[in-house]
Amino acid sequence: MKNTVRTFQMAKEKGEKLTMLTAYDYSTARLMEEAGINAILVGDSLGNTMLGYEDTISVTVEDMIHHGAAVARGTSDTMVVIDMPFMSYQTGTRDALINAGRLMKEGRAGAVKLEGGASVCPQIKAITEAGIPVMAHLGLTPQSVNAFGGNRVQGKTEEAAKKLIEDALAVQEAGAFAVVLECIPEKLAKIVTEKLDIPTIGIGAGAGCDGQILVYQDMLGMFSDYVPKFVKKFANVGDVMKQAFKDYISEVSAGTYPAQEHTFKIDEDVLEKLY
Ligand code: KIV
Ligand code: NA
Repeated sequence: MKNTVRTFQMAKEKGEKLTMLTAYDYSTARLMEEAGINAILVGDSLGNTMLGYEDTISVTVEDMIHHGAAVARGTSDTMVVIDMPFMSYQTGTRDALINAGRLMKEGRAGAVKLEGGASVCPQIKAITEAGIPVMAHLGLTPQSVNAFGGNRVQGKTEEAAKKLIEDALAVQEAGAFAVVLECIPEKLAKIVTEKLDIPTIGIGAGAGCDGQILVYQDMLGMFSDYVPKFVKKFANVGDVMKQAFKDYISEVSAGTYPAQEHTFKIDEDVLEKLY
């Protein structure tokens, strides 16, 4: 069944968990769709996982379109959410509308995601009113890494926790259809989830959220630059890949690959004429 904003709303009403993972390419997206995921986020985390930057600051709208369109081609029933990268919406509602429009038209997104609370509500409202569903993102918002002074758990003080609750209500009021809660205390995420009518999607925010999201290389054990506490490795794909690369190298070196079954034949009468 096709996953839409209605799927998100129904899941919240029925108390059914929503499942999301990040993906950045066609073949991974296909595997996730076949597995039955609700939605894929083409996250600007691609700056880290795919492009090797140390943060998401350098990611461009073109990067997001390039990877987003590949994911869109790999899915039909999965909802595809594409991240708005740093400075593609912070500069005002007009820029936000133009760039959200590009992610829809060129990236073939089903929705866009942007980071921030009350301060980006005019953008959320404008994009939503243009007919583009918006997923909000609160707590640890990696595009603000330089303002935070590093990536750390958010919403631990009374002031910060109250601000986060206010921001969550504000993004809902502005029209967001869901909100990602990243790296906040479990009990705060639970309070936010109870206060909101839209679903919360947690990452490092405990089991009380309406859904969960993880970066796929993290949950597959493929990315070891930095592994946060909230990550569970559901498989050690990195080890499997490395072993396969080693086996390939040794078989090619030994001359055992390619074997007869991997080779093409030529007719003997043609072959004779070549000598
Ligand atoms: O870019 C990303 O992968 C994200 C998720 C971690 C929520 O924004
Ligand atoms: Na992101």
